[in-house]
Order: sequence, then C-alpha cells, then structure tokens
Amino acid sequence: MKMDHTGETVDTSVQMLSPMRLRGKVAVITGGARGIGAATARVFAENGAHVVIADILNELGASLAESIGGRYVNCDVSKEEEVESAVKLAVEWKGKHGGTIICSSSSAAIMGGLASHSYTMSKEAILGLARSTACELGVYGIRVNCISPHGVPSEMLVSEYQKFLGNMELKPDEVSSIVGKRGSLLHGRGGRLEDVAQAVLFLASDESGFITGHNLVIDGGYTSACSQMSFIYKD
Ligand SMILES: NC(=O)c1ccc[n+]([C@@H]2O[C@H](COP(=O)([O-])OP(=O)(O)OC[C@H]3O[C@@H](n4cnc5c(N)ncnc54)[C@H](O)[C@@H]3O)[C@@H](O)[C@H]2O)c1
Repeated sequence: MKMDHTGETVDTSVQMLSPMRLRGKVAVITGGARGIGAATARVFAENGAHVVIADILNELGASLAESIGGRYVNCDVSKEEEVESAVKLAVEWKGKHGGTIICSSSSAAIMGGLASHSYTMSKEAILGLARSTACELGVYGIRVNCISPHGVPSEMLVSEYQKFLGNMELKPDEVSSIVGKRGSLLHGRGGRLEDVAQAVLFLASDESGFITGHNLVIDGGYTSACSQMSFIYKD
C-alpha cells in the first residue's frame, strides 16, 4: 500500500506483480507446441509459470518445453483420459492449485463470413461452454474466460491463406500485412502471436481476478466497427 498524490491509500500489489505475473503458477497449455499456444507457453514461462505443453506434435512440443524449463505430454484433446493425464502430470509436478481456464474461440464466433460453417459453429459453441462453465465453477473460485483472436499468422492461418490465395510461398508477415490492410481498424497493423499471448497472460494472472465468463476479443477492432464509412470522420 502507498499514498497517492491526493493522500489516498492505494493498493500497489497489482503493479508489484507485473514483472513476473504468473510466479509459481502451473499452466497446462493444450496445443502448445506451435502457433498461439507456443507463443503463450513462452510468455507464461517468462512470467514465472511452470508450463506443461500438451500436444500431439511430440518433437516440436518436447523441444519447446525443454527450452522454457517446462514439461511435455502427448495429449490428444479429443480423448478425455489423455486430458486427465496431462492435468495429473501438472498436479504431480508442481502441486494442486485453484485456477483459471482460458478457452480459444475466434472472431469467427462474432462475425459471419470469416470461416467455414463448421469452424464458426464450433467457436460459437466454445463461447457458450465458457459462459456455462464459468457459472458452474465460479462457486469454487475458478474463473473461465475465452479469447477470440483474429487473423494471427500461425502455421494454421498461413497454410489456409496459401490455399485461399493459391500462393504456397506466402509468408507469415505477408499474411499479417493482408490482415492489417483488410481486417483491422488499426490500419496496416495485423495481429501477432504475441498479441494473443499477452491477452492470455492477462486472463491467467491475478490482475484479471474479477473477470470470468468473458470473451476477450483480440482483433484490432475488426468485429466492432465497419471502416468502409470512416470518411465521415474526416473534416
Ligand atoms: N491463428 C488465428 O488467426 C486464430 C484466430 C482465431 C482463433 N484461433 C484459434 O486459436 C487456437 C490455436 O490456433 P493456431 O492458429 O495457433 O493454430 P496452429 O495450427 O498453429 O496450432 C494448433 C496447435 O494445436 C495442436 N493440436 C491440434 N489438434 C490437437 C489435438 N487433437 N490435441 C492436442 N493438440 C492438438 C497442434 O498440434 C498445434 O500445436 C485454435 O483453437 C484456433 O482455432 C486462431
């Protein structure tokens, strides 16, 4: 606690947590071997978390886990017993904790026309599931939130863009540049893996302690407004 300029006492514990915002916490990151999951695993480790990467890309996942002082477990999330094993590994490794769950939805759950019907439906379903589980688990102090990224040049998105545009040489920064020009209110600024990782870090940290059942959209404002009429704001 300290006094601010008006003489009021303010709680500085949140700011004090900032350099190592997940110190001592344990995180299981499904899909953590590459893309958004891998970027999140790195940011979590930098912030003091013990990270378990749970994925099906064994070589990639194991080498990333080693590089960040974490653990790797082969885990196909479509198999419940494998998810249970991943959680068990984390608990046995670093002990039992309360916690927070962060689900990956998408801008495609908010706005039509951004993905296939099946992908869109599954991402909408995740939003619903996060809200209902936030209700169920809130009584145990467990928070459940979603992230909804948009157009982040992971391996998945780059390979999709290569197919859409018929250019198998397309690079991640070119995808980011297309998104920045056509899919962002921040003209020219597309999303990066690290933008998503930082949003997940916030939701995993105690700084978001009163936030649950929330969908944090990381889309450069794209799903909030249409920029085609932005000429009306010019003098
Ligand atoms: N990249 C984007 O622009 C974007 C936008 C919105 C939402 N998302 C969502 O973010 C999440 C991560 O996507 P990404 O773009 O980093 O993709 P990615 O393909 O680069 O990474 C996905 C990871 O999940 C792993 N994985 C796939 N199936 C699995 C399974 N059955 N069990 C365990 N692991 C499995 C893969 O091996 C890989 O490591 C996905 O849910 C995706 O739908 C991505």
